[in-house]
Amino acid sequence: MPLVTTRQLLDEAAKGGYGVGAFNVNDMEQIQAIMEAAKETNSPVIIQASRGARKYAQDNYLYHLMLAAAELYPQIPLAMHLDHGNSFETCESAIKLGFTSVMMDGSLKPDGKTPATFEENVAVTKQVVDYAHERGVSVEGEIGVLGGIEDGHGAGGSGLDHVTDPDQAVEFAELTGVDSLAIAIGTSHGAYKFTKKPDGSVLKMDLLIKIHQRLPNTHLVMHGSSSVPKELQDVINQYGGKLKETWGVPVEEIQLGVKNGVRKINVDTDNRLAITGAIRKVFAESPEKFDPRDYLTPARAAMQKVVAQRMTQFGQAGHASDYTAISIADMAKGYKSGALVTKPLVAAK
Ligand code: G3H
Ligand code: 13P
Ligand code: ZN
Repeated sequence: MPLVTTRQLLDEAAKGGYGVGAFNVNDMEQIQAIMEAAKETNSPVIIQASRGARKYAQDNYLYHLMLAAAELYPQIPLAMHLDHGNSFETCESAIKLGFTSVMMDGSLKPDGKTPATFEENVAVTKQVVDYAHERGVSVEGEIGVLGGIEDGHGAGGSGLDHVTDPDQAVEFAELTGVDSLAIAIGTSHGAYKFTKKPDGSVLKMDLLIKIHQRLPNTHLVMHGSSSVPKELQDVINQYGGKLKETWGVPVEEIQLGVKNGVRKINVDTDNRLAITGAIRKVFAESPEKFDPRDYLTPARAAMQKVVAQRMTQFGQAGHASDYTAISIADMAKGYKSGALVTKPLVAAK
């Protein structure tokens, strides 16, 4: 299937009542792991690249690897998404490259660290929406700020420092016309999200439900949604790693989110853990080995296993063949004619 937009993918997910995992990639093996998991579970999929990934791999490598994925798996709807764009220019360059979807994370200033004002966020997000929609590309915005820092990106601190205000979420969706909305409900990027299994005092599912009640037709996005399973932590520590005890977002909470408007779920850390554990195991058990394929093959398989599990748990499994791709050109026409609604339906408080 040619690349699809996240707007189409998420509209279909809303119709089917399921969520779609968005998995971060930096290299060929991660893309292969995701595509094999998608094939195994017959899932539509979002592959996303951060600014850090674009810098690490270079745009052209990433883009052509994803095109190869689309070519090799014609049965899988695949969206190519920019994760945490920090400025109009970053989003513009991804769109020019061929990404079908971008996130403008205007919750932070362009330094990717300092929380922005509501007005700054609206202004830059709207600028990206206007540019992207004219070209048929989907836009995710963010209101509220996640905790933690990944590769220099993030405000740091606890996930509870800047949780999303439901009134602001409504205003933001109305003013910007984003296709999907990332919200902050207490999660953080990275492995260290919670110091014990999270309850409602730190993981604000009640807030998510409130936002969904006000914006019943808006596709919500959960960032920082790795579950950080103990089994994956244990493999790393068993083979010489030094992870401190930590908890992520339990899958059942994500499933509750999916019942309440969550359509895109961002997962990176769980895959990083799976890859690292598998590599450490080979290094520890077979120190004589030095062919990268000896450790990258099990690493890729370990990531495939996690991704396939998440695809099943989020509900996207089995839905790859539900629809055919709408071209970017037709998406652009849809935005122009108003057939693709961008004004959110707002319910009374
Ligand atoms: O947003 C966080 C993702 O896990 C990407 O992380 O910026 O280290 O590539 P990164
Ligand atoms: P995790 O660090 O929980 O995997 O979150 C990834 C993410 O939100 C990418 O945008
Ligand atoms: Zn994120």
